Amino acid sequence: MSVTAKRLVSEPLSTNPHLLQWIAKMTDLCKPAGVHWVDGSQDEYDALCDEMVAMGTFTRLNADLWPGCYLARSDASDVARVEDRTFICSLSKEAAGPTNNWVDPFDMRKTLKRVFDGCMQGRTMYVLAFSMGPIGSPMSQIGVQITDSPYAVVNMRIMARIGQAVFKLIDHDFKRVVPCVHSVGAPLAPGQHDVPWPCNKEKYIVHFPEGREIWSYGSGYGGNALLGKKCFALRIASVIARDEQWMAEHMLIVGIENPQGQKVYVAGAFPSACGKTNFAMLIPPPHFQEQGWKVWTVGDDIAWIKPDKTGRLRAINPEAGFFGVAPGTGHKSNPNAMKTLTRNTIFTNVALTPDGGVWWEGMTDEPPARAIDWQGREWTPEIAKTSGVTAAHPNARFTAPASQCPTMDPDWENPEGVLISGFIFGGRRATTMPLIYQAFNWSSGVYIGATMGSETTAAAAGAVGKVRRDPMAMLPFCGYNMGDYFRHWINMQRSLSETPRIFHVNWFRKNEQGKFVWPGFGENMRVLKWVFDRIRGEGRARETPIGWMPRFTDIDWTGLDFSEEQFEKLQSFDRAAWREEVIRQEELFIDVHSTLPKELVFERELLICRM
Ligand code: GTP
Ligand code: SPV
Ligand code: MN
Repeated sequence: MSVTAKRLVSEPLSTNPHLLQWIAKMTDLCKPAGVHWVDGSQDEYDALCDEMVAMGTFTRLNADLWPGCYLARSDASDVARVEDRTFICSLSKEAAGPTNNWVDPFDMRKTLKRVFDGCMQGRTMYVLAFSMGPIGSPMSQIGVQITDSPYAVVNMRIMARIGQAVFKLIDHDFKRVVPCVHSVGAPLAPGQHDVPWPCNKEKYIVHFPEGREIWSYGSGYGGNALLGKKCFALRIASVIARDEQWMAEHMLIVGIENPQGQKVYVAGAFPSACGKTNFAMLIPPPHFQEQGWKVWTVGDDIAWIKPDKTGRLRAINPEAGFFGVAPGTGHKSNPNAMKTLTRNTIFTNVALTPDGGVWWEGMTDEPPARAIDWQGREWTPEIAKTSGVTAAHPNARFTAPASQCPTMDPDWENPEGVLISGFIFGGRRATTMPLIYQAFNWSSGVYIGATMGSETTAAAAGAVGKVRRDPMAMLPFCGYNMGDYFRHWINMQRSLSETPRIFHVNWFRKNEQGKFVWPGFGENMRVLKWVFDRIRGEGRARETPIGWMPRFTDIDWTGLDFSEEQFEKLQSFDRAAWREEVIRQEELFIDVHSTLPKELVFERELLICRM
């Protein structure tokens, strides 16, 4: 099948008149050279990849070493989400709240009309129907993304359920469909030479929460371009969830199974590039494996969570793939991820090795003798030493099908979801925050989530390493007023027959030499086992001003050389540091004071009293 031939012949894959009308309208606005309805087949995927290889967007990797894998290098200016260009255009500024960029929707529509007018000239407009969540699950949601980026199409095929089967659903019903418009913003004049990674300096990532609509312009990268992910499954879905009494969260989902075969699922919110993928794919240390402990993966980035008929929370992973951080992912740190990405994977902004493979910092201890870096330049370890240039961009990513992960939970695609018994919040904190503690109850747990702090990472454009408040890891992803979001969290518990336990972790505490104190990764199982025990009412703990904490003897240390002294250091509660922390927590509360639930004000008072 030739994609090029399809450029000229538009063959609608849906008969829904509303969809056809919308596509006609968008065609008039964007003025593409042709329209291609994405059927989602392997043939189509292969043809699009071939086309991108010919264009220079993709490099096909060595088929013996990396079957079905490609490398993409983005433009150096388009490497991460752009939070300052992300807008929540609700009818009122108050509805978006003080933590979101708000523009009057009327003004924004005018801007969008201007920038999208003719923006797809000389390019193909792809019509991509997708389901977030298993097709037909009562918890799933449907969108249609139109895009002029074949890169977005092939990535979305890995990240979501797409194509014919979704168009079938839309044939019956267009009311629930979220329209998503995406353009890289680089029209081609007749005869104009294309570049491997077209994009535009001017970027707009726009959400209309009331109309449930997404418009993204100027970027081809990750969360800016794969609109089912952050734009839909978090920003728009968080608004739908609030209206319909469920939760759309920036959370991984894991199952923990003990040697008796009893299983508990927990969901964990960590900010971008703070360890969700790694935690979701955790492999227990040998001693735990010998005993029969297992950890199962359900999702690594987003959880949609809803009370079932019996009042217990159930969660699905709305995605079908992983868009994971490459640097730091290696056979030692995350062997599961390494197995997942051996085939049918798209790598973006990693280095190319002379044998047609890929490499990034942290993949192996030994770097390759030479490579082509993420910007296409010659790279050697010596160059790295003298110039500090990394082979891969710090936000380099792999896009891999979830089905290839060896630890996928048997229920990961269960349309009813899995039962959630606990929540874990965690930030990246060099100081102050202990390895693990448990909230006293739901409202103190919501306080812990709401006041979470974390050092910024390369997942978003801007400064890296600055501690900022990132409530529930949702600061960049909540589609409405953060105070109302906290209220929604408080309210959710009221309808539940069983209240999940809430925990806070920090894998990233550093010593005076600036080294991580905690070995992390697989060793996090020791913490997870304590979480498991606490959820089942079996683990012991002591009360502290901030919550329940394990004693040294409450954690299984077999096989790890970690002294009680080291543990106490890791868990230590530094009064001066916490005083500072509590003052910093207040800053966010002042911002959202007009909608802040009373419960959180009281929780704050109680914390200060206990301290
Ligand atoms: P997003 O996809 O951006 O939402 O990120 P994420 O939360 O899934 O983060 P991920 O698991 O990809 O980890 C990001 C970085 O943190 C990687 O470089 C990891 O190597 C590192 N990391 C993850 N877990 C740990 C840990 O337990 N200890 C330490 N020291 N680093 C970790
Ligand atoms: C994140 O930044 O939290 C990600 C990557 O998961 S992106 O899809 O680009 O948002
Ligand atoms: Mn994420």
